[in-house]
Amino acid sequence: MAQQTFSTHVGMVDILPGEVKKWQALERIIHEEAKKFNFEEIRTPIMEQTELIARGVGQLTDIVSKEMFAFERGDDQYVLRPECTAPVARAFVEHHLEQRGGTQNLYYIGPMFRAEKPQKGRQRQFHQFGAEIIGADDPAADVDIIALMMSIYDRVGISNTSLKINSVGDPESRKAYTEALKDYFRPHLEDMSDISNERFEKNSLRILDSKEEEDQPFIDDAPVITDFLTKETEAHYARVKELLKELEIPFEEDPYLVRGLDYYTRTAFELISPDLGAQDALGGGGRYDLLIEEIGGQHTPAVGFAAGMERLFIACEELGIDLVEEEMLDVYIVTLGEEARNWGLKHLPKLRKAGLSASMDYIGRSIKAQMKDADRENARHVIIVGGNELAEGKFTLRNMKASKEDSYTFEEILNKLTN
Ligand code: HAM
Repeated sequence: MAQQTFSTHVGMVDILPGEVKKWQALERIIHEEAKKFNFEEIRTPIMEQTELIARGVGQLTDIVSKEMFAFERGDDQYVLRPECTAPVARAFVEHHLEQRGGTQNLYYIGPMFRAEKPQKGRQRQFHQFGAEIIGADDPAADVDIIALMMSIYDRVGISNTSLKINSVGDPESRKAYTEALKDYFRPHLEDMSDISNERFEKNSLRILDSKEEEDQPFIDDAPVITDFLTKETEAHYARVKELLKELEIPFEEDPYLVRGLDYYTRTAFELISPDLGAQDALGGGGRYDLLIEEIGGQHTPAVGFAAGMERLFIACEELGIDLVEEEMLDVYIVTLGEEARNWGLKHLPKLRKAGLSASMDYIGRSIKAQMKDADRENARHVIIVGGNELAEGKFTLRNMKASKEDSYTFEEILNKLTN
C-alpha cells in the first residue's frame, strides 16, 4: 500500500529555502524604513478572541461573516487573525501603551489568515507589513502613514502605482450619506444583484464595493460621500490632500472608495498596481478613530496601513526587480584525511568568531566533491588542508574568483580575510 503523504492547506504555501532570501531582503527594507520614520515594531499572537475581530473589523464584513478560521478551546472562541489593526488596538488598550506618552507609532510584519477562494495574489495564509499611529488626530499623521507606505515601495523600486484616496466621513456624515444612498438605490433594487440587496438591508455603503456587473450602472451614478461630509471632516480631508501635494506624493480622489473593513472613519486610501491583475491592491488603510473605544479603551484617534507581501513580490516579478543581492560564503575548508578534518572542525569556529561565514564538508566527500560544494555555496575562498599542509603549518588559500592560490599560516589567513 502506498505511504500516505501530506500537503499544505489549500491557499497556504511553504516558503522554501531559496525563496526565503527575498523575504529577508524585503523585511530588511521594511525595518530600515520604519526606523527612519521612528516606528517601533510590535508582535502580537496569531490568534485572537473572535469577539475582538467581530467587533473591530465588523460583523457584516466578508472577512468576519465568511472568511474566518475559527476554533474553540474550552468555552473560549478564537480566530486566526485576518488582519493586525484590531490586534494592535487590543494590545494598546490591554497594556495601556498610552502611558508611554506621545503617539504610539507601531509597525508589524507577519502572517494573516482569510479563508478566501485562492487565486493569483489571494491566499488563505498571506503576509502583511503594516503600521499604525495611535493617538493622533492631525492630518499630518494620515500623511506620515501614507509616506511610510510609499517609501517602502520606492526602496523596492515599484513606482508605477496609483494612490486612491477618499474620506468615508465621521458617523454624522455617514448617517446622512447612508440615507441618501438608500433613497437612491431603493427604486433599482429589483435590477441589482442578490448581494447588493442583502447589503442594502445591512450596510448600504458596501454596495459601492460590489464587483457584480449588473450593479455597475447604478453605482456609477450613485451620490458621493464627499457631498455629505461635515465641515470638520471636510477640512481634515482638505488638509490631507494639501499635505500630500506638499510632499509631492501623487494621488487620485476616488469618492466611491469604501474599504472591506468597517472600522474606518474619515481618510481611506488604497495603493493600486497595474501589474497585479484582478487582485490589484498592493495595500490600503485609513483612519479608525472609533475602534479603540469600540473594544473597551478611551477615545483615541488612530490611522494606519497594511500591505500584502506576496502581492509586492508579484509586482516585482512583473517589473523584473530582484531584491536578493548575490550572497557569498567567505570561506570553505576543504580537507583530505581524518587529521585534516579534525583541524578543520577546530578552526571553523575561529573563522566564524572573526566574523566570517564559513563551512566545510561533514559527510566525508572526496576533494573534488568538496571543491564542487564550495562552488555551489558561492565561496570566495577555499582553505585546502592535507597531510603536507599540516606538517608544514602552512595551508593553501585559494581565491575562487581569481583562480589564484598561495600558502599561509592560519594566522596569516585570518589576517588576510578580515582586513
Ligand atoms: P486590507 O485592505 O484588508 O487592510 O489588507 C491590506 C492588504 O493585504 C491588501 O491590500 C492586500 O495587499 C493584502 N491582502 C489582503 N487579503 C489578502 C489575501 N487573501 N491574499 C493576499 N494578500 C492579501 C487591512 O488589513 C487593514 N488592517 C489595513 C489597515 C491598517 N487599516 C488601518 N491600519
